[in-house]
Amino acid sequence: MDLSSLDRQRIPVHVAVVMDGNGRWAQRRGLPRTDGHAAGEEALMDTIWGALDAGIRWLTVYAFSTENWKRPVDEVRFLMNFNERLLLTRRDELNERNVKLQFIGRRDWRVPKRILRRIDETLELTGDNTAMTVSMAFNYGGRAELVDAVRAIAASGIKPEKIDEKTIRQHLYDPTMPDPELMVRTSGEYRMSNFLMWEMAYSELVFTDVLWPDFRRENLYAAIDEYQRRDRRFGGLSDTDGLS
Ligand code: IPE
Ligand code: IPE
Ligand code: MG
Repeated sequence: MDLSSLDRQRIPVHVAVVMDGNGRWAQRRGLPRTDGHAAGEEALMDTIWGALDAGIRWLTVYAFSTENWKRPVDEVRFLMNFNERLLLTRRDELNERNVKLQFIGRRDWRVPKRILRRIDETLELTGDNTAMTVSMAFNYGGRAELVDAVRAIAASGIKPEKIDEKTIRQHLYDPTMPDPELMVRTSGEYRMSNFLMWEMAYSELVFTDVLWPDFRRENLYAAIDEYQRRDRRFGGLSDTDGLS
């Protein structure tokens, strides 16, 4: 699928991606699982540039979940170092193309201080960029995000009857982030795995069997094509209903 076959007037503003299947990609080649994570870098960069070319304004990618700490220590350590290196080697080119790179997730003791520092530096460097915001969901969990929001709301001393959906949104990791219209998950798994639980209440979900290291911009465009064929009703009736 290429960009010219999409309706450019209906490109989603925000696309969320669950980058899954790295381990299986490697295992099928008789390689260690970590080689699959490494191969995912090219998929990520091609997806970022493809999203930028399509005019997507927000791209959120699931890089490490609050549950991924359950993995073997060696794999966790690899993923920490891998994400740090990715930041360091890619942030300049992202900056040159006016892309803001930020992190959403829990800044707890489990994330090495060094990485938190890199995250802050990266935001410092790219924070004013306006072409697209790439959010790396790192030590991210949708439930953890809601717990953090609830804690902040409780600490603010607001009266319970004053709390509404807007209050909750204002306490999410990035209150300015619009809800994703589209979520894409690779590797043939049909679940959310604790990604953007609040934000995806009405997202269109597209699943593909492609393993993340094989994913390229064409696959992103195919997912957008599928999204453009969907009828989004938000609990109401579709535009064409009730007219005849
Ligand atoms: C996704 O690939 C990357 C992370 C979760 C960090 P996986 O490592 O989950 O790959 P599979 O699902 O085991 O194949
Ligand atoms: C979701 O993938 C998290 C990331 C892609 C970072 P997982 O591979 O961790 O999800 P489950 O365990 O299959 O649900
Ligand atoms: Mg997985």
